[in-house]
Amino acid sequence: MAKRSEKAKRLTLSEKIRLMYGEKAWTIHGVPRIGIPPVRVSDGPSGLRYMPNDVMEVGSDATTKDSIAYPCSALAACSFDLDLMEEYGRMLGLECKSAGVDVVLGPGINIKRNPLCGRNFEYYSEDPYLSGMLAASFTKGTQSVGVGACLKHFACNSQESYRMVNNSIVDERTLHEIYLRAFQIAIDECSPWAIMASYNKINGTYACESKSLLLDTLKNGWHYSGVVLSDWGAVNDPILCHENGLDVEMPCFVNRQGLLFLAADRRVIVGKEGKTGKEPKTVHRLSKKRINDITDRVLRLSERTHAPHKLPAFDLNDGKAHQLAVKIAESSMILTKNNGILPLESVKGLAVLGELAANPRLGGGGSSQVKGFAPKSFLQRCIEAVGEGNVHYSRGYDLATREFDSDDENAAELIVDAVDVATRCPNVILFLGTSPEQESEGFDRLSLRLPDNQVELYRRVVERNPNAIVVIATGGPVEVAFAETSAAEILSYFPGEGGGEALYNIITGATNPSGHLAETWPKRNYETPSFGFYPGDQAQSLYREGIYVGYRYYVSAEEEKAVRFPFGYGLSYTQFAFENLRVSSKKPANLEETPLKVKVSIKNNTKVGGAALVQVYVRPLEGNVFKAKRTLQAFKKVYVDGNRRVEVELELSRRAFEHYDTESGSFLVEGGKYAIEIGQTCMDKDIVLSGEVEIPGDKEFPSLRTELTVYYKPPKDGFWLYDDVYEKLLGYKVPFPDDPRARPYTLNSTIENIRNTWIGRILVRRAQEVTGIEDEKNPLYRSMLQTPIRNVVMNGISDKVAQAIVDCANGRLILALWHLMFRKG
Ligand code: BGC
Repeated sequence: MAKRSEKAKRLTLSEKIRLMYGEKAWTIHGVPRIGIPPVRVSDGPSGLRYMPNDVMEVGSDATTKDSIAYPCSALAACSFDLDLMEEYGRMLGLECKSAGVDVVLGPGINIKRNPLCGRNFEYYSEDPYLSGMLAASFTKGTQSVGVGACLKHFACNSQESYRMVNNSIVDERTLHEIYLRAFQIAIDECSPWAIMASYNKINGTYACESKSLLLDTLKNGWHYSGVVLSDWGAVNDPILCHENGLDVEMPCFVNRQGLLFLAADRRVIVGKEGKTGKEPKTVHRLSKKRINDITDRVLRLSERTHAPHKLPAFDLNDGKAHQLAVKIAESSMILTKNNGILPLESVKGLAVLGELAANPRLGGGGSSQVKGFAPKSFLQRCIEAVGEGNVHYSRGYDLATREFDSDDENAAELIVDAVDVATRCPNVILFLGTSPEQESEGFDRLSLRLPDNQVELYRRVVERNPNAIVVIATGGPVEVAFAETSAAEILSYFPGEGGGEALYNIITGATNPSGHLAETWPKRNYETPSFGFYPGDQAQSLYREGIYVGYRYYVSAEEEKAVRFPFGYGLSYTQFAFENLRVSSKKPANLEETPLKVKVSIKNNTKVGGAALVQVYVRPLEGNVFKAKRTLQAFKKVYVDGNRRVEVELELSRRAFEHYDTESGSFLVEGGKYAIEIGQTCMDKDIVLSGEVEIPGDKEFPSLRTELTVYYKPPKDGFWLYDDVYEKLLGYKVPFPDDPRARPYTLNSTIENIRNTWIGRILVRRAQEVTGIEDEKNPLYRSMLQTPIRNVVMNGISDKVAQAIVDCANGRLILALWHLMFRKG
């Protein structure tokens, strides 16, 4: 077989250029003439969302292919189980292979900056180390069967509001230490074959056209050898994107061939600065070097994904993949409270309440949504076990409604009926959660509250029957203080098609729960570190909280800040005792060569076997650089039989002690004393063992204590009052954004910005027709209005029409006509 470099030599410039943009919605071009097959990609991270006709549509109805609906990433992460994540990746990879899919568009590893982010269900964690390690294991799995993983969304895509135009303003240290670190870890550990650049800007530059992100950091800094794809419709200036590190624009509904060909052939036209007094006009040229690099990367991807593999046959009907979906869900669901009611001896006579018990949400809405192959609700599973007459279901609420109106007869009747059922049964299980209108891709949640009608139902049920087990089925944290009076509580998240069975196993004790939270559940939204400035406005989002994201804030804040459920929290039916912490050296000389070994014994003090999670935190005890009080740096989940003890060994490499040093532009270690802690969660009171080590440093670091005050002592009330300190951290003044509603409009103006112009009104009407969404209260309507005009091309409108729309909105009709008549594209 000809080598890749030889194949590349045989390509014409046109052929090379064709590799730089998608063929239809889900395919990267190949060059069949010389035996380079196209690469078929597909969403997504929670199951295969196959689009049979290579067309662009979202939602689970869009796919005609049955596929396994795995638990959403937010839940799978709570397994803290790297082997299981690898098994998951492998099984999903086999399913992809059987459908002819070469690259799966996942995992999503954006750091959960705020629980309101509408898409958090698709992301693993608020912790970069955990996210990176889970992503690496998932990727190892898919790639072991020849299916590429595609890490997404690179980077700082921390919100859904205005996600296609918003500028994430984040300081360099936080960027590298929090938002890029998970990607870096995953790439170090297993080199995913693709990565997706996000929609948003970072410090003023679109991610897809950011040289510092894609070339300097990813490709030159981390030596990444895979393909960088754009998120779907994320390309603003194609030539600039490709020159600055983007490899493939996805999808591509306008033919880029002419544009890129011209750019590739042309010399740089330098502006006449000084002569005209105007800004120099730079025409970006696509260098040969970049074109050849892109060719090489795409060819490598095609080679990797089409390499022959001896694979076991994949058959949905044999139940193996479905059983894996059950296993992931039951290893991940989190038992947060149990007054001893669980496990139940049987579900016989159980009152099963809430629409979600019968009609569960398998996953979140949007591009990760799949129908599932053999979904089974909890109610169905109970009926299967004990017969229809022995479980008593009542719907309790209408999931699509938020408010509770006591004059609404329907709502009142639903509650009365459920309370009646609860009163007649010894035990109750009550399902509460969010609907697709409250939580989905494309918009952020407005509140962490559960719908009033559900909370009202809870109150009334518990009044009549205190033996209430509550299941919270959401994509992320909600305020659950009201549920303190429950007998038991389980966080099921969106659990995939195996969710009903997994819950049944946990409730009845067939499975001992072992999920631990991969994110903090705060008490209230206003206690989160980015409260008051998240998600920002259309123009920008200020990352004022710096490195204090998630638990890093709660543990470091003055007096430690109480939360509802801390990071790492999760109960079991078993009592584990962690004992005898041993660290291989008190003064390790070279962590790069010899990582620190951390050993601990776990004793299971009950008869029941179960999986315990060892969480190793590193806590700096001195130093000049501000750091979070403690961070997770190693973890391992191990099964311990009843009344047994096991020894567990983990490793801490140099990475565990590093912080990002902006002066040298690299990760360095500050020397000094560190505590190595074993915790049952990240909070002080749950640290059960601790030892001390002294680590050699790379250099002396100055203290910035007097300048960056709040970052040395995170305030209890968050960061929203400290703009001046934030600007010092940032190193520049936060730019004053222009009012996006005012002229002149550009292709990056949103539909909302021009909605009051005549062309804007036509566009809104057209968008309503296409999406079928007319109700302004529907959050998807908000999401549609927040779409930039450049993205209308995703709906089959040409580039020049998009430009003409902008001209019309600017009142420049003649220019619009000129563009329509003479512009290419
Ligand atoms: C999402 C990506 C997804 C792509 C294709 C985009 O809107 O942000 O995560 O892979 O669509 O569905």
